[in-house]
Amino acid sequence: MCGIFAYLNYNVNKERRYILQVLFNGLRRLEYRGYDSAGIAIDSNSSDPIPSSSSSNSSTVSQPPLVFRREGNIESLVKSVYQDVAETDLNLDESFSVHAGIAHTRWATHGEPAPRNSHPQSSGDGNDFLVVHNGVITNYEVLKETLVRHGFTFESETDTEVIPKLAKFVFDKANEEGDQTVTFNQVVLEVMRHLEGAYALIFKSRHYPNELIACKRGSPLLLGVKDLTENMNNASAFHDEKFLSKNDHPKELFLSSDANAVVEHTKKVLVIEDGEVVHLKDGGVTILKFDSDKGKHGGSFSRPASVQRALSVLEMEVEQINKGKYEHYMQKEIHEQPESLTTTMRGRLIRGGSHKAKTVLLGGLKDHLKTIRRSRRIVFIGCGTSYNAALAARPILEELSGVPVTMEVASDLLDRQGPIYREDTAVFVSQSGETADTLLALEYALENGALCVGITNTVGSAIARHTHCGVHINAGAEIGVASTKAYTSQIVVMAMLALAIGGDTISNEAKREATIDGLIDLPNKVREVLQLDQEMKDLAKLLIAEQSLLVFGRGYNYATALEGALKVKEVALMHSEGILAGEMKHGPLALVDENLPIVVIATRDACFSKQQSVIQQLHARKGRLIVMCSKGDAAAVCPGESCRAIEVPQVEDCLQPVVNIIPLQLLAYHLTVLRGFNVDQPRNLAKSVTTQ
Ligand code: F6R
Repeated sequence: MCGIFAYLNYNVNKERRYILQVLFNGLRRLEYRGYDSAGIAIDSNSSDPIPSSSSSNSSTVSQPPLVFRREGNIESLVKSVYQDVAETDLNLDESFSVHAGIAHTRWATHGEPAPRNSHPQSSGDGNDFLVVHNGVITNYEVLKETLVRHGFTFESETDTEVIPKLAKFVFDKANEEGDQTVTFNQVVLEVMRHLEGAYALIFKSRHYPNELIACKRGSPLLLGVKDLTENMNNASAFHDEKFLSKNDHPKELFLSSDANAVVEHTKKVLVIEDGEVVHLKDGGVTILKFDSDKGKHGGSFSRPASVQRALSVLEMEVEQINKGKYEHYMQKEIHEQPESLTTTMRGRLIRGGSHKAKTVLLGGLKDHLKTIRRSRRIVFIGCGTSYNAALAARPILEELSGVPVTMEVASDLLDRQGPIYREDTAVFVSQSGETADTLLALEYALENGALCVGITNTVGSAIARHTHCGVHINAGAEIGVASTKAYTSQIVVMAMLALAIGGDTISNEAKREATIDGLIDLPNKVREVLQLDQEMKDLAKLLIAEQSLLVFGRGYNYATALEGALKVKEVALMHSEGILAGEMKHGPLALVDENLPIVVIATRDACFSKQQSVIQQLHARKGRLIVMCSKGDAAAVCPGESCRAIEVPQVEDCLQPVVNIIPLQLLAYHLTVLRGFNVDQPRNLAKSVTTQ
């Protein structure tokens, strides 16, 4: 939900052409976070600083930075920037030994997609302060009123515009009052003192040329550091302090909403914490901790303590975030599920010798399993696909753990302020680990004293950091906006969680063994079901012009019905509804006729005979049936010639949702491509929903 990026080269000559490329590539990597408009700010020239007229604290001020903003995706921005450059005398070959550029890709919250609402947002004429923002400033209206009273005029409908204007107000006020030493840090800290809501921000200012400031509260942000000194990038010469302290080593610094935009440059990163203010200046990185309480009661410029932080090394490869041989990320991510599931399970399933029981090892939970077993309830909390994954895992958790399991959609829990007790274990499921609703629900559960467990795909994410313990799903970067491989890895992690909580009781032994065997063989079964690709493409051709699709499931596969329908709806832009088959007679049956396509999931499990009767009842009403069944069952489950079967390999019942979702993911993918929509950038959506 909005991506922010910045690139600062220090003591190394880089041409404007190169700087633009780095900024554009950064945005391309972040585009999945929002793609309705984009913008960048770069320096107008490398030399020719002009004497500052408005400030006495700095001897020079740079020429106003150049700002380019455009409605539409990144490629429209790129095209328009090069067009503008061609029409002016801007020299792409001009070289900068230090240059600070900022960039933004937007998912609109306040104000329609339009250049004036795109970022960087500006303090006004002269671009004294420029800001890119991910998040929402909740008190922007009050701030705007105050700034208007002080003579500021606003150009956009965004919440963000108050930020650069507030920075200019603070800067001008300090200068008017004769503060000759007001620093960029102090300006930003003062701005932060007034902001409410969630944000990750990067500031650029012509009053502080070649410097950048980043800060955050709630929204994700990281710093990447690439020291270009010979041998500094080999592991043995890697010392954090050399990277962060001021020195003349030629270096490149990157700020980004996530690691995807940084990993092609460097693996050395620092995940910025809430309340931290990161100042890039003169080849050094200073980190200050903003204490909002101190800020409120302190003088005009509080002096927060500087913080020592170590860099960490990203465990991710550039190849992971490329499309490889595939046309789309969603397609790639569907097809790499045998590998992502293998990685999810790696080192966590212990087969055991002939006399030794098979076990599950979840390192992040080992010290908390006793508490979880003794909980009064396990409460799964998530949104969208992550919620569906938890729903798919609920039955096995109930069966093996013996602990009651309840489900909460994060936003609904918050709306109701539903009960969460000290004796509860609250499990937060989130691919990104940054979803605002899930994060707020986490805050709520922490306040209520529950043990909080995180299941995420993003190391260092807010949910991973703020829960008491957790499991990383290790599915690898998921870039397609529609979640696919994360869903199956989440189910597998929760099945392993059920095994870990269940322990090795005699009564569970057979189920445990069968589930572990099933898990071990699951990647093979997923490979097998992926062979249905062409069959699902053919089915998509038949459904291409339909308005609507129903998906009926129950038991383990109620979640499959919800998730399959969600995939079709969000990418193919076709109305689609997942229906609990047991509820069919209580309303949905009224929709059935010979035109409306209906998928019924009827693979073999305890609900099979009930699903057979659902199929008969739909057939009796001339329903247009597509039945998903276990291999070899087509003739048995299809009541008539017009019924189409999708045969899938049978696996242990609790793992069947992993196999069953894949044909529906493929169907959604092909439907989208055939209908001519952008499968990786579904209309109005973005990955990582960091606003409420
Ligand atoms: C659908 C989808 C969304 C997310 C939801 C939660 O394909 O991706 O429904 O599942 O926004 O996101 P995370 O899992 O990042 O918390």
